[in-house]
Amino acid sequence: MPDISHTAILGSGVIGASWAALFAASGRSVAVYDPAPDSKETTLAYIEKAWPALQGLGLVQPGPRAQVTFHATAADAVKDAQFVQENVPERLGIKHATYAKIEPALLPQAIVASSASGLTLSQMQDGWQNPDRLILGHPFNPPHLIPLVEVMGNDRTAPGLLRRAEAFYAEIGKTTIRVNKEVPGHVANRLQAAIWREAIHLVLEGVASVEDVDKAVSAGPGLRWAAMGPTALFGIGASGGLEAFCDHFGEVFNGWWDDLGQPHMDAQTIQTLVSGWQDAMQDTSVEEQSAKRDAMLIEILKALKPLG
Ligand SMILES: NC(=O)c1ccc[n+]([C@@H]2O[C@H](COP(=O)([O-])OP(=O)(O)OC[C@H]3O[C@@H](n4cnc5c(N)ncnc54)[C@H](O)[C@@H]3O)[C@@H](O)[C@H]2O)c1
Repeated sequence: MPDISHTAILGSGVIGASWAALFAASGRSVAVYDPAPDSKETTLAYIEKAWPALQGLGLVQPGPRAQVTFHATAADAVKDAQFVQENVPERLGIKHATYAKIEPALLPQAIVASSASGLTLSQMQDGWQNPDRLILGHPFNPPHLIPLVEVMGNDRTAPGLLRRAEAFYAEIGKTTIRVNKEVPGHVANRLQAAIWREAIHLVLEGVASVEDVDKAVSAGPGLRWAAMGPTALFGIGASGGLEAFCDHFGEVFNGWWDDLGQPHMDAQTIQTLVSGWQDAMQDTSVEEQSAKRDAMLIEILKALKPLG
């Protein structure tokens, strides 16, 4: 095992429990802190439920299961951990209070990665005496399945720390990207927001139903995006490569971009979306649909794995 064999999870809700499952599957022991009275039961139940998928994806190390322990304080959970994934609620006050409690207890070489989706690294650094060990390590839900982690450090980050974090994430099966500049929503959530904005615009304009706009993504470009990103795909979309593609279609895209919508998430928009979504769901439940999503994701990930 490399230099990270013991980890800690702070906040074991939707995101933290999923990270805990992945860290444990990778053979690293996990120390959990979450003040919710039932956090031990819910975290262990989540890990049990996630385990078959992790096994199916080849992410479980052979041998005895790594220990998952539960602690009464954040400081106690982090005290021997070389890597800490922080997933406490997305409120700056709670993040800062957590950092103030753990900072004196951390090992000198420990890395602390925050899962924060909306808060920026510099906002979170303000909660430290010395923030040189804090990075952004933003996953996509659920982290034990979706490979992407957006990582970010800045000039207050210790030299080499980001590379150590990237190596750790790679060892547990993650694909990292570096965010080089602070923007709200980092990279992937902004991309999701851009697609959803146009999807909503098309529905509000009556161009297609919620169900059909969703199908236009999942049965069309969404399938290609699981293989490659948009620029790589357009680069092979013309025999002369990306330059030829841009020469050919540049003005077409300029026209489409000028025509894209700017919907607003007001009560009327929400009502239109919810009613279209209910039609598409027919009689299935959210639980059934999320189980279906996970089963499909696992098969897609398995298919993609041998292809690199
Ligand atoms: N849900 C997502 O899709 C998603 C995706 C990526 C990143 N994130 C980020 O992950 C973080 C956690 O989000 P979540 O969706 O798991 O939230 P959540 O509400 O499901 O979980 C938060 C957990 O933190 C616990 N908690 C509350 N106060 C605490 C404290 N002081 N110390 C430790 N734990 C505490 C709660 O009991 C709860 O179990 C947020 O920063 C969020 O932006 C969420």
